[in-house]
Amino acid sequence: MRIGILTGGGDCPGLNAVIHALVTVGQRRHGHEHVGLRRGWKGLLEGDTMPLGLDDVEDIPTRGGTILGSSRTNPFKTEGGGAAAAAAANELGLDAIVAIGGEDTLGVAHRLHAEHDLPTVGVPKTIDNDLSATDYTFGFWTAVQIATDAIDRVTTTAASHDRIIVVEVMGRHAGWLALESGVAGNADAILIPEVPVSFDKVAGWVRARRERGRLFSVIVVSEGVELGGSDEAGGELDDFGHARLAKVGVGERLAEDLGATLGADARAVVLGHVQRGGSPVAFDRALATRYGTRAAELVAEGAFGRMAALRGERVTDVPLTDAVAELKVVPPELYAEAETFFG
Ligand code: F6P
Repeated sequence: MRIGILTGGGDCPGLNAVIHALVTVGQRRHGHEHVGLRRGWKGLLEGDTMPLGLDDVEDIPTRGGTILGSSRTNPFKTEGGGAAAAAAANELGLDAIVAIGGEDTLGVAHRLHAEHDLPTVGVPKTIDNDLSATDYTFGFWTAVQIATDAIDRVTTTAASHDRIIVVEVMGRHAGWLALESGVAGNADAILIPEVPVSFDKVAGWVRARRERGRLFSVIVVSEGVELGGSDEAGGELDDFGHARLAKVGVGERLAEDLGATLGADARAVVLGHVQRGGSPVAFDRALATRYGTRAAELVAEGAFGRMAALRGERVTDVPLTDAVAELKVVPPELYAEAETFFG
């Protein structure tokens, strides 16, 4: 079999470990041939490929980023784009495509399989951890660790200067990254998009600390949080219709408002793409390798329209349709648990 591999959407640590496992398992166990499709679905549409032999992947599993490059290209954005993608796969002589991506990339894999009979298999990637039907996406815990390290560092300097420091983390419409890093970093408040909290409540947590003589506070805010309902995304959308949230600047605005209301020195730190860079933590390396292995087996079994998934301690597989049906967001009870520690 000749298999195309692509990485789509925002990159994250562990992509290369998946590619390494797909190629190694596919070639050693099944004698498959692999070709890399450069920059996500764009590479398929444009026939932009690179060879993927055992030699090409041997040294990559510990490295961040993706050797294939990535983009947010959506074939279905243009009329007839799905059929064009299917025709391109045919032209390249592909017997299967493994798409490593999040909600958007896997949504395309699902539609290409369901509507154009293209043999696709998915692997769940995203630092946002917002894909349904899997306990974790790979890359998530690396981003949590990076954010936690940043919160730890910000806390010592905030304490030295009696400052309020707001740490803005990524996560788009899901608060997983903010919640887990905020809990791990012992933040004094965490704000996530799923649970709206009034500005007065946040100011109240900080005030309560100040009254106890704790003149510093560290607040973690997810980039998708809307303050006072104002969305200043400027209307800039990607191919999948998502606002580019990193430009909204909720962290800056919150710091400014807290500083003005409480008469305190307040600053914002936006972690941005630091959270997606560098090497994966051990958990993500192991998970990515197991996902790649499962996906290679799904291809060999001809089990298309499916995605590798983690269920408890087992890597298994689920229909792609389950993975993209709805976003997995933080349940309110988990947030309520964390809230006990605020202020
Ligand atoms: O989906 C992953 C993610 O890092 C989100 O957390 C963030 O909103 C978005 O991608 C940023 O995308 P870009 O790298 O295109 O600015």
